[in-house]
Parts: sequence; structure tokens; C-alpha cells
Amino acid sequence: MFYHSKELQFKARVSKPDPRFARLLLEQFGGGNGELKAAMQYFVQAFACHNPYPDKYDLLMDIATEELGHLEIVGATIQMLLAGVNGNLKDAAEQNDVFGEKTFSKDDFIHTAFSVNPQFGTVTGGGPCLTDSNGAPWQGSYVNANGDLTVDLRSNIAAESRAKIVYEYLMQFTDDKDVLATLNFLLTREVAHFQQFEAALDTIRPNFPPGVLQSDPRYSNIYSNHSMGDEARGPWNEGRSPGLDEEWLYVEDPGRQVAETDGLTQLRPQGTSRTEASVRSADRKLSKERSREIRRATPESNLEWCEYSAEREKKKGGASRTRRQPVEQM
Ligand SMILES: [Fe+2]
Repeated sequence: MFYHSKELQFKARVSKPDPRFARLLLEQFGGGNGELKAAMQYFVQAFACHNPYPDKYDLLMDIATEELGHLEIVGATIQMLLAGVNGNLKDAAEQNDVFGEKTFSKDDFIHTAFSVNPQFGTVTGGGPCLTDSNGAPWQGSYVNANGDLTVDLRSNIAAESRAKIVYEYLMQFTDDKDVLATLNFLLTREVAHFQQFEAALDTIRPNFPPGVLQSDPRYSNIYSNHSMGDEARGPWNEGRSPGLDEEWLYVEDPGRQVAETDGLTQLRPQGTSRTEASVRSADRKLSKERSREIRRATPESNLEWCEYSAEREKKKGGASRTRRQPVEQM
């Protein structure tokens, strides 16, 4: 269950209203790289970890909850940037004059709010809404959750990178010192989360390639030159590959290679110590290990999600499982 604390995690302040920046900041409220996306992504990912990886469940839930706190900070900032809009709109008697002489009597400020985002005037009454800065509604498809920590944690490192750069861009569109202080805080927390996800990924061994299957050694170190003109070379196509430590094989003419190898089916592994047999055996070992970790921690009947403290007390001294400990890695 959740509690709501009435105090924000960071002291959000705004020196003066700025509807234009309020609209831009919506990007981090209801946009594809924003705080709600982050909160929901880590929240949804956490369920699969609850039993087998309670330490990662804790990490994902802590960060998801912190992101909700950031959503609150962003929402509060947008509300402050739009200070005055709601009060003006509630002056319904004056609004009635839209049919009379006072048609254009609203002050400049409310007109600005309207012109930068009509929804501030027509829907939200001068508050945040779950859209991006262009008014596109927030959507569940922003959330990436694939039930595998070696994949999900990488998605999260990417999500934190994108959230950080959006704050970085946003900071160039306001000169309000108070707003900048808030953005600086939020940007920095993305940097912290990035490292936390990276460190968590590092505790899972092996964690590359993502998922379970180790991938085909005939194709894992080929660099196909699919362009004409000058070749660009770098550690992505020469030397050793960073994940599997194989030698990159630069294929100058992929069309010829495909023709000569019957659509790559006749290719043999080269530049790698991995063989089809070694990969098959690694696949079998890791499949067993990962599925055992999950099965061992997840009963198939009479499931319950958690133990309450009274129940725990009763079992005290017994073999009650301590949460927050990783499962024993094989
Ligand atoms: Fe974050």
C-alpha cells in the first residue's frame, strides 16, 4: 500500500508564472520520457521480481515510488507556472460577458496560457494534464516491461538517459532560478537512478546477451558493410566485441557473402571461441538456472503475495523468509 506525504521531496518554487514553460514542462509530466512513464515502467517491471529477486523488487519499487514523487514535483511546478489561470477561469460571471462587450476583457496572462496550450483553458483549468508538450495523451505503450531483468534494467538505463537529456534541453528554455533549481535536482536524480540500475544489472551474471539464449556464434561477430563510399571503422567493427569478446569480422560485400554461403546457412563460426555446441550447452545451463530461480521462489498453488507482521510474529524463530535478499545465484 502507499502513503502520500504532504511534503515534496524537493522544495519546488517558481518566481513568476510562465505558461509557455508550463507547456514545455508537460513533456516530463505526461510525455514519453517523463516521470509517469518512469514510475509506471519500474512499477510494472517489479511484479515479476517479487518472489525470485526480492532485492530487485525493492529497488524497482523504491525508484518507481520516487518517480511518482517527481511527477508530483513536476505537476506542482506546472500548477505554479500557471498561477492565476484557474482563478481567472472561475470568474464565471465575467466569462459570461463573452456574449457581450467584455469579450476580450481577460488579462493578457490568461490569453497567453490559452495560446500556448488551449487545454490549460478548456480542460484543465490551469493545471497539468497527462499529455506531452504537444498535447498527445500519455499512453501505456511508453512502458517497457519484458519480464527479464537483463532486458528491463537496460530499458531503465535508456529511460533514465532520455529523461535526463529532456531536463537538460528544458533547462535552456527558462531563466527562472527557482525552476532551474528544481530541474537540476530532477536531472541529477536521473543520473543517480542510471547508476543504480547499472549496478543492479552488474549483480546478475551472466547478463549478456540479454535474456537466456546465448545467440548463434556464426552471426554474433559479423559487421555488415551496408553502405557505399568511405568506410568508418571503430571498436564496433574492428578489434574485439565488448560483450562476447569475439573478433569483429568486417564483411565488405554482404551481398556476396549471402550468395556464397547459401543465405548464411553454410557459414561456420570464425573469430570466436564459441561453438554451436558450447552455445547449446550454455543455453541449457542458463535456461535451467533461470527457470529454477523463478520456480523455486514461486509456488504454483495457494499463492499469497505477502506476509503480514502478526503472521510473521507467530512464526518468529521459525524459518520465515527474510525479504530484500537476493536468491542464491547459481
Ligand atoms: Fe529517474
